[in-house]
Amino acid sequence: MTEPQEPGQAQAGKIMLVGIGPGSVEHMTQRARDAIAEADVVIGYVTYIKLVADLLEGKEIIRKSMTEELDRAISALEAAEAGKKVALISSGDAGVYGMAGPTYEVLFQAGWTPDHAVQVEIIPGASAINSCASRVGAPLTHDFCSISLSDLLTPWPTIARRLDAVAYADFVVALYNPKSGRRTRQIVEAQRLFLRHRRPDTPVAIVKSAYRRRERIEFTTLDRMAEADIGMLSTVLIGNSNTFVRHGLMVTPRGYANKYDLEEGGSTLAGEKAGRSLSTGLLGWLETLQADYAAGASVAQLAAQHRLPETYIQATLDEPLEPAAADAAEEAEA
Ligand SMILES: C[S@@+](CC[C@H](N)C(=O)[O-])C[C@H]1O[C@@H](n2cnc3c(N)ncnc32)[C@H](O)[C@@H]1O
Repeated sequence: MTEPQEPGQAQAGKIMLVGIGPGSVEHMTQRARDAIAEADVVIGYVTYIKLVADLLEGKEIIRKSMTEELDRAISALEAAEAGKKVALISSGDAGVYGMAGPTYEVLFQAGWTPDHAVQVEIIPGASAINSCASRVGAPLTHDFCSISLSDLLTPWPTIARRLDAVAYADFVVALYNPKSGRRTRQIVEAQRLFLRHRRPDTPVAIVKSAYRRRERIEFTTLDRMAEADIGMLSTVLIGNSNTFVRHGLMVTPRGYANKYDLEEGGSTLAGEKAGRSLSTGLLGWLETLQADYAAGASVAQLAAQHRLPETYIQATLDEPLEPAAADAAEEAEA
């Protein structure tokens, strides 16, 4: 790497990590289009270059294969050091299993720091989890996470532990990189781990090539997931224990039914107040826990009942229960 230049020097180039969204030009952000328009050089995986082909006239194009991520970052740095503006494109968001991480790793390795003359900008895009969710309904309206099944750079026990933990914790989960020509068993193992904690009829949606020409959507259930048509361009969305499918739409409830009687015009359920934590929220739960403990329940029984570690239950029991600050203030005003 050349000597760091003073910030603002005219010959300094720039690396723009551009998330192009799911694949259709309409779903790219304006800033992503502008960044590609500004760029002298566009670097990306061949498929992504094809997806933005209409925006590339007059640009230097560097096409790389899927496995050449570090190469792409090195090429970007070299071009930026030569004073060029470089758009390094990723599908979805560049920071989600994309080029942002490898690029910073290459930059740091080369001695780059944020005050180096070569600037870096990350331009966010809709990730596959967002795009795929939007095609099947509203599966992410409660806590969710994503796990990549790719073991190209991550040991399987790490992936399996995460699958097991999130399945147990009842997250909605998006599986990225679920299957490829060579990696066919990972999805079977993921299913096996999920079935330890989730019902076999848990809804699953498989979205292939969202917002691209060959888009394909399949609804199935957890026990049949591994038999579905899944490939490199698919994202698998697994619902939580409340997710349902109705009229061809996968929906995860936000939790309103815990507080309101949705059948009876939305009146508040007994013991609940609008705008307040649930009666089973933290303070309500602590009160119940203390009461059950005082009535003779053991820490081990309470831990099993609430599926929480005994050490956590013990620690909360050891701490005196204080009324919520807001409740105390309200009582003082009354
Ligand atoms: C290396 S990751 C890249 C993720 C990307 N940076 C993002 O934020 O969406 C590749 C995986 O993303 C998912 N993916 C990307 N684009 C997709 C699309 N249009 N439809 C469905 N899944 C997609 C697939 O799971 C694929 O195996």
